[in-house]
Amino acid sequence: MTKLSINRERLWAALEELGRIGKYQDEPSQLWGVNRLALTAADGEGRRWVVARRTSLGLEVTVDRIGTVSGRRAGREALRPVLMGSHIDSVPTAGRFDGCLGVLGGLEVVQTLADARVTTRRPIVVAFFTDEEGSRFGTDMLGSAVATGRLKLEDVYALADRDGLVLKSELEKIGFLGTAEAALSPPHAYLECHIEQGPILRAAGKEIGVVTGVQAISWHELTIVGKSAHAGTTPMELRADAGVAAARINLRLREMIASGRYGKAMRATMGAFVPKPGMVNIVPGRVVASVDLRNPDDALMRKAEADLIAFYEQVGREEQVTVGWRQTARTESVPFAVKVQDRVAAAAAARGLTHQALVSGAGHDAQELAHTCPAGMVFVPGEYDGISHNPREYSTPEQCGNGIDVLCDVLLSFAEEGEAP
Ligand code: GLV
Ligand code: MN
Ligand code: MN
Repeated sequence: MTKLSINRERLWAALEELGRIGKYQDEPSQLWGVNRLALTAADGEGRRWVVARRTSLGLEVTVDRIGTVSGRRAGREALRPVLMGSHIDSVPTAGRFDGCLGVLGGLEVVQTLADARVTTRRPIVVAFFTDEEGSRFGTDMLGSAVATGRLKLEDVYALADRDGLVLKSELEKIGFLGTAEAALSPPHAYLECHIEQGPILRAAGKEIGVVTGVQAISWHELTIVGKSAHAGTTPMELRADAGVAAARINLRLREMIASGRYGKAMRATMGAFVPKPGMVNIVPGRVVASVDLRNPDDALMRKAEADLIAFYEQVGREEQVTVGWRQTARTESVPFAVKVQDRVAAAAAARGLTHQALVSGAGHDAQELAHTCPAGMVFVPGEYDGISHNPREYSTPEQCGNGIDVLCDVLLSFAEEGEAP
């Protein structure tokens, strides 16, 4: 059978159209970016736009209790479906591709099958999961983790954002507190296409990334409490400066990386740093900050966490402050099914596309689904050193089209399979 090819112009137009929802002018870069933080009005508008697209494709749409929205195309047999998905929520400073390529690409595959009047043995489901980014409610892969049982629905319903707005009410407010069961019944396989969000494929000149797995992720929220005081009159030795304590922890992250003790691939970031009262002439009495650790090696990750927690205590003592911390997100490294990796590599090769195996630096819904079924990912290269979580994030129409063609091939290979004997 000749291979199906997706409609690249249609895919690109969909990415552009969804990218206009939540569009904002990014001050530092002077570029147009996307801000569709989870469960905001913009997320709601983006969700409704995707739902309308699914309905026009004749998919049966369901919304579950954590706001995961699925569109189902019937198969010839009543077998477990093949699931494609990703997310359409974004960080507040996003581009148009992170997550959206997987969702719109999945729909493009379904539309390509419909145009070619191709049926599949198994049903096909295209889903988008709630709050993959974790930027608003503090824990990432939230919807897919509820779907697969890592997080409990009641616990995540109670999460609040920085303004104290509670997740369940926010889900209801945008009209996506559904009634379908949030626990996912395991699909036959899960496939996700995503922009790489890093420089590897572009630097290697490869067209397709065969993702071998996702590295471990550990997030801490720090609340450092000292004593606010007059900047001009308070002698240095009498200070309890929460800002200095946070700065020392941030520098410690750099020193830990430089030491090499936690492996060459470890990454560490203090992305949030909010001093109170935050005034030029007041010693900060309180800082809320975040720590994001990533490591492909679980043992080295545990060592880094233990050493860092010991350092929090040391800094607290030395700076006369208390360093409180809580774990807001934690996932071990997750390998993807070899079967899926092999099929992605074979599909790329059959289309004459160059490919390379790589570990994902970013977290993805696929890592949650990997606990329930064979799961895997197709990466496409990003331009400008693969920059992401930034309005400059970009992949070309051709690269995106290549990724979704490969997704289509791998989808068809799983969708025609029967149950293993
Ligand atoms: C999700 O984008 C992450 O933080 O890895
Ligand atoms: Mn993503
Ligand atoms: Mn992201």
